[in-house]
Amino acid sequence: MKPRTRWVVRILLSVAGPACLAGALFGQQASLAQTPPMGWNSWNHFGCKVTAADVRAAADAIASNGMKAAGYTYVNIDDCWQGQRDPDGTILPNEKFPDMKALADYVHSKGLKIGIYTSPGPQTCARYEGSYGHEEQDAQQYAAWGFDYLKYDWCSARRVYKSSEMQEVYRKMHDALQRAGRPIVFSLCQYGYDRVWRWGASVGGQLWRTTEDITDNYDRMSVIGFDQNGLEKFAGPGHWNDPDMLEVGNGKMNHDEYLTHMSLWCLLAAPLLAGNDLSKMTPETLAILTNPEVIAVDQDAKGIQGRRIAQEGPLEGWAKPLADGSIAVGLFNRGESENPVTVNFEDIGIKGPAGVRDLWAHKDVGVFQDHFTAQVPRHGVALVKVK
Ligand code: GLA
Repeated sequence: MKPRTRWVVRILLSVAGPACLAGALFGQQASLAQTPPMGWNSWNHFGCKVTAADVRAAADAIASNGMKAAGYTYVNIDDCWQGQRDPDGTILPNEKFPDMKALADYVHSKGLKIGIYTSPGPQTCARYEGSYGHEEQDAQQYAAWGFDYLKYDWCSARRVYKSSEMQEVYRKMHDALQRAGRPIVFSLCQYGYDRVWRWGASVGGQLWRTTEDITDNYDRMSVIGFDQNGLEKFAGPGHWNDPDMLEVGNGKMNHDEYLTHMSLWCLLAAPLLAGNDLSKMTPETLAILTNPEVIAVDQDAKGIQGRRIAQEGPLEGWAKPLADGSIAVGLFNRGESENPVTVNFEDIGIKGPAGVRDLWAHKDVGVFQDHFTAQVPRHGVALVKVK
C-alpha cells in the first residue's frame, strides 16, 4: 500500500470500523454472512404451491415463536413465484404473489430479511421464467422490491452454457447485484458441480450448495451430511459450504434422526434454513430448531467447519473447535441398534481431565479423565461441549 492510501485506510477505519471499510472497498456484499445464514425457505415443505400468504405466515411465526431471538433472519421464497416479463423485460410475479414490494415491506416490518430465487438459465428448475439475458434487470428489480438474499440455481443454464462457463455466469449475477446497490446475500446452487467449494467465494458467493437435493429421509440426509467431511478448509466467515436446507419437522424422520440432522448441520457450520411449515409445528420441532446451545455451535464466531475425528463402523465422532477454546463434539450412531460411542480427548487436542456438557439437555455431565462415552440410540446423537 502507498503511504497516502494507507492514511486514507486508517482514517476510514477509525471513522467507520473494519466491517464498513471492507464493504466500501470490496463492495456491499463483503461483510455479509459472517456466520452461516439462518432463516427459512419455502421449498422443502411448500414446493411450487407456495403463496405470499405462506411467506407472511412464516415471517409471523419466526417473529413470534422464539426463532427470531434464536437467530433466524431470512425468510426466503424459493422457486415458483415468477410470472411473465412485461414488454420491457421486467419480471413480474405470478398471481400467488400479487405485490412483492408489499411482501418485502411486511417481512422487514417484523425485523426480518427476505430472500428470492432465480436461475441463470432461461427457466428455473420448476420451469418458471429464469434470468437468462435479464441478469442486470432482475438484480435491479430484486433490489427495488427490497430483497436481501438471492439463491441462484443452475437448472436450465446447462442448456445454454458450457460447464466451463459456470464461474463467469455466477460472477455476472454477483456483479449485477453489486450494481443494484443493496447488500444481497448471494447463494450459489449448482449442486456441488466442478468442486464449487474451490471457487464459490471468488465469484462472490457467501454460500454454495455442495450436494444434490436433500429429502426428508434419514438415509438421504445422512449421506449428504456425513459426506461433507474434507470440505472444512473451504468454509469460514463470509463463505460457507451449504449441504442444503433443513428438513426438521417435515415428518418423515423420527426425533433422534432430526436431532442428528440439526447437530450435524451445526457442527458443519452449515446455513440453517428451516424447511418446514412454521405456522403448524410441534413444540418438539420448535425446540430442535431453537436450542440456543446447539445454535451457538453453528454460529460460533470462529466459523470453523467441523470434521470427522474418529469412526468405528457406523459410529462416528465429529468435532468443531469453538471461539472460547472448547470443542463441540457430536457422537453419532448411524447403526440400527443402540451403541456406546466414545470420544478420546487426545483426538480433539485436549490433555487431561475435561468438563463435558450435554448441549441438547443443557446439563453438565461431569469431568472425565481422557475420554467420554455416551449411550447413543439408533440413528441418534449425543452433542456435547468439551472444555
Ligand atoms: C433445485 C434446488 C432446490 C429447489 C428446486 C426448486 O432442485 O436444488 O433446492 O430450489 O430446484 O425448483
